[in-house]
Amino acid sequence: MKKFLDLGLQPLANSYVLRKNLHLKEKKFKLILGFNPKNYLVSILNTVPKEKMFNKNYPYKSSESKTMKTSFMELAKKIKKKFKPKFIVEIGCNDGAFINNFDPKKIVGVEPCKNLARITKKKGYKVYSEYWNLRLSKKIIKEKKVDVIYSANTLSHITNYSEIFGAIKKSLSKKGILILEDPSLLNCIKNVAYDQFYCEHVYVFSTIALKNILDKFGLEIFDIENIITHGGSNRYYIKNKDNSFFKINKSVERELKKERKYGLQKFSTYVKFANKVKKSKKQLLKIFNKIYDKKVIGYGATAKSCTVLNYCNINNKHISFFYDTTSFKINKYLPGTKIRIKKYKKLTNKDADYVFLGAWNFKSEIFDKERLYIKNGGKFITHIPFPRII
Ligand code: TYD
Repeated sequence: MKKFLDLGLQPLANSYVLRKNLHLKEKKFKLILGFNPKNYLVSILNTVPKEKMFNKNYPYKSSESKTMKTSFMELAKKIKKKFKPKFIVEIGCNDGAFINNFDPKKIVGVEPCKNLARITKKKGYKVYSEYWNLRLSKKIIKEKKVDVIYSANTLSHITNYSEIFGAIKKSLSKKGILILEDPSLLNCIKNVAYDQFYCEHVYVFSTIALKNILDKFGLEIFDIENIITHGGSNRYYIKNKDNSFFKINKSVERELKKERKYGLQKFSTYVKFANKVKKSKKQLLKIFNKIYDKKVIGYGATAKSCTVLNYCNINNKHISFFYDTTSFKINKYLPGTKIRIKKYKKLTNKDADYVFLGAWNFKSEIFDKERLYIKNGGKFITHIPFPRII
């Protein structure tokens, strides 16, 4: 593993702090990024035990985002039409935003975060509240194998990818496919979106790296879609190599070409990226220092914000509070920086002169919602792709 960026000591990104615990010292972990020159995989070097992150207090709910809900609905329609699956498994089904679109007899979910599994179960779906692994996959496929395994923004959270892909390979039916969706490394590097890295995101996959990994399991990508979620993701359609029901689409080579042209197979690309990140930190701090006497708040208390704010040493002296719509986060404090999170209210120009866009990946959804604030001269601060006021 070749190290290329040190993002400092970071708290657990989704461990929002209760008011009564504000005085307690938070556990922090080194966040260092590295590149594997053998398979070209980019990952964080110090991983945190999964039980510390994915437990009954997991705050993120997919159903609370319009963008995610729409994306899941459209994909569900496509899956039904194109693949006509009889049995589907979703790994990391969260609060059921995707599963919701299917007949409960045809789909089961896997969700180790018990608070989320409970919500999906209440909607009438079977959910295994466990981590996806070989043992669980055997239990699930006891009666029949799986036609579609879907996993969005989950597989990159799992440290032991050998077991994950091994279990997937064994679970697929003859025609079976895996649809894997995750932030694209190409977009992440191009956008200097270093905040895609935090304790939970062990990997940010490039197509190049994913292809190398899948190859070891006799799996291959047969189609790729570029989608807008999470700041630019790829949706990979993956099959067993001996599954000849699907041809390899041109999109695969196209994506590989784009990535090779940008240099995702070269260590030097990541060194350049690291330099841009260091510059981004300086520029963002400069902006915050320039407006120190103005009313500044944050919008979207994301896990990504945790990386940015802690890395750039921006805290509750720079940002008075964050607005967020997630019920679980409200009245808690962002990890590390201890900035209070308040229940979302439509922005008014009395509230703030400047709003830091924590959820930059929902920029258009947010700008659309806050038209009035913008029309009346309200400004946003973003660090993507470079720090600026908009
Ligand atoms: P997201 O960017 O999906 O996640 P991550 O934590 O993985 O970086 O999180 C979006 C957050 O932004 C979530 O806490 C909800 C919040 N949000 C709002 O408060 N208002 C909005 O209009 C939108 C779109 C999101």
